[in-house]
Amino acid sequence: MPELQLLRADHGPAILDFEITNRAYFAASITDRGDEFFEHFAERHEALLADQQAGHRACYVLVAEDGAVLGRFNLVFVGDGVAELGYRVAQQAAGRGVATATVRDLCRLAASQHGVTTLKAGTTKDNAASQRVLLNNGFTPAGPADPAELGGKPGTWYRRDVTAGPAEPRQKWSARDAEYFDRWYADMETSATKDAILARNLNLPRDLGSAGILHWDAVPEIARELRVPSGGLLLDLACGRGGYGIEVARRSRARLIGVDFSIVALERARAIAAQRVQAGQAEFRSGTLTDTGLPAASADGVMCTDSVQFAEPPVAALREIRRVLRTGGRLALTTWQAASAGDPRVPDRLRHLDLGADLRAAGFQDVVVEDRPAWRAAERGVWEEATATPNEDNDLALSSLQEEGKRSLEAFDALRRVVAYATAP
Ligand SMILES: C[S@@+](CC[C@H](N)C(=O)[O-])C[C@H]1O[C@@H](n2cnc3c(N)ncnc32)[C@H](O)[C@@H]1O
Repeated sequence: MPELQLLRADHGPAILDFEITNRAYFAASITDRGDEFFEHFAERHEALLADQQAGHRACYVLVAEDGAVLGRFNLVFVGDGVAELGYRVAQQAAGRGVATATVRDLCRLAASQHGVTTLKAGTTKDNAASQRVLLNNGFTPAGPADPAELGGKPGTWYRRDVTAGPAEPRQKWSARDAEYFDRWYADMETSATKDAILARNLNLPRDLGSAGILHWDAVPEIARELRVPSGGLLLDLACGRGGYGIEVARRSRARLIGVDFSIVALERARAIAAQRVQAGQAEFRSGTLTDTGLPAASADGVMCTDSVQFAEPPVAALREIRRVLRTGGRLALTTWQAASAGDPRVPDRLRHLDLGADLRAAGFQDVVVEDRPAWRAAERGVWEEATATPNEDNDLALSSLQEEGKRSLEAFDALRRVVAYATAP
């Protein structure tokens, strides 16, 4: 795992290497440092360390296991508890959620280690990736930036208050859970093997970006059952990397809002949507299973694949779905249930799930819960292939799939694969 380290003298050579390797890449979005920077790198490095020692700034480097620098993240203290955040991430690590996850860590470090209460970050108008990283981390636009502050380009200042506690503002979930999923998704970004195993066994397009273990046949079925009108709003709740919802929206010509609490997954979902649906058709927002942030009665259809069991309790997620659906709006949900009540082999999360009863308790009507043994059989293929695949390179996404596969195969007959459909009254 890459590690965020406070700047030290011995980081010098790896930082210089990072700056040289990525010079052209950085120059495309931010001002080039100029030849002088490289010629006098050693003096500049020493000056930065002295400035840090004097308490004027804190410079962090994200260091890979092999010692290579993947990113630089700096806090400059400007007084009254305010710090300016600046960062740059290597091209090899771009688009993998590295910046988003590290800025999140830094928000916490700024408060807990440096007494910062407010963070400011300036970004140019054409640097969409950086704007997204800031928005995903709870920053909000705070006004125009003087081009002189941003290397001559027009831009915007973003601000965010930070606290030393583990939870982010507006988040009502346990930060550890969201972080767990962020890591889970970050591991997937570096593993082609996991996606290939899922694609082969579940008949998925290779670039779909699923995170659930859902057969491709579910897509046309869900699209048909949801009956979202063309131009209507589909919510994909706990969308992960978004693949299933994007495809259902594409087929229904619906507008899509995907909601998940993993910001790494949301970043990937945006990239996948950009490839598969028209610009503006899909949007991905941070939110939770029990607090989506959508207005009441705003959605024509909601889908929630392989995720409702993570809500505590699941019925609270079903109530939230009921709230955001308009009258007559439809819900499609996939998960697993115990084959026999009270079977101790059933994971805790699923043990008390009774979709029929829970959906009615949440106020739904026309509730249908059905088994899908063919999907379950395809899932067995995933677990069998994953557990039989050698993992010499310590591919973390594959390891996680193998662990889950081992557990699932040990008690395979304890679970039924189910799909539920229901209508909001
Ligand atoms: C198994 S994945 C399924 C993702 C996607 N629906 C799919 O089928 O590919 C479960 C997802 O639930 C999300 N999740 C878990 N608990 C959540 C919560 N309380 N609020 C929002 N998202 C949650 C995770 O981040 C993850 O993306």
